[in-house]
Amino acid sequence: MKKLLILCCLSAVVVACGSDEDPTDAERAELLWNDISDHESWGQYAGATGVVESATPHADMADIRVNATGLSNEGEPAYGTIIVKRNLLEDGTTLDALTVMQRIEGYNPTAGDWFWVKYDNSGTGTVAMTGEGVMLAGTPGGCIGCHGGADPDDYVTVND
Ligand code: HEC
Repeated sequence: MKKLLILCCLSAVVVACGSDEDPTDAERAELLWNDISDHESWGQYAGATGVVESATPHADMADIRVNATGLSNEGEPAYGTIIVKRNLLEDGTTLDALTVMQRIEGYNPTAGDWFWVKYDNSGTGTVAMTGEGVMLAGTPGGCIGCHGGADPDDYVTVND
């Protein structure tokens, strides 16, 4: 009986370990979608308040929201920082896409440990795709390449 009990405990540990594996990028995108459900009520960096003109080729206007962790240390985003950029059309209200950065310890140390994702404008958390059908979640070269020019070297543009 004792043996059986030990066996049971062991298999419980194994099962628990299995669920401890790192989530995939698709799973991270799904989790993050829940974390940002109330982002419209988050605060903003001093350098980008309200709706601002966007300097990117993919949006005319932007509304950039930052969670409390990010706002607590603007110049040097702490782990746990989430920044949501609402990409808006010229009218400043119609949503075109949501581009989001989340700082996760150990996620991608060679590029600031940011997880990047672009959701489409459906409001359902659907991850956008590149023209080649690649999911824009994880470490897309386009996001990292352009943001890599941010100063200081934290990949965030609006706090420069
Ligand atoms: C061609 C350059 C470029 C590319 C590519 C790009 N961004 Fe940006 N991004 C910017 C600029 C410039 C800003 C500053 C705000 C603005 O002008 O819209 C910005 C702002 C942001 C912000 C607000 C925080 C900050 O850094 O200021 C987030 C979040 C963001 N981008 C996410 C993404 C994601 C996710 C991708 C890839 C899917 C991406 N960006 C691709 C240039 C780029």
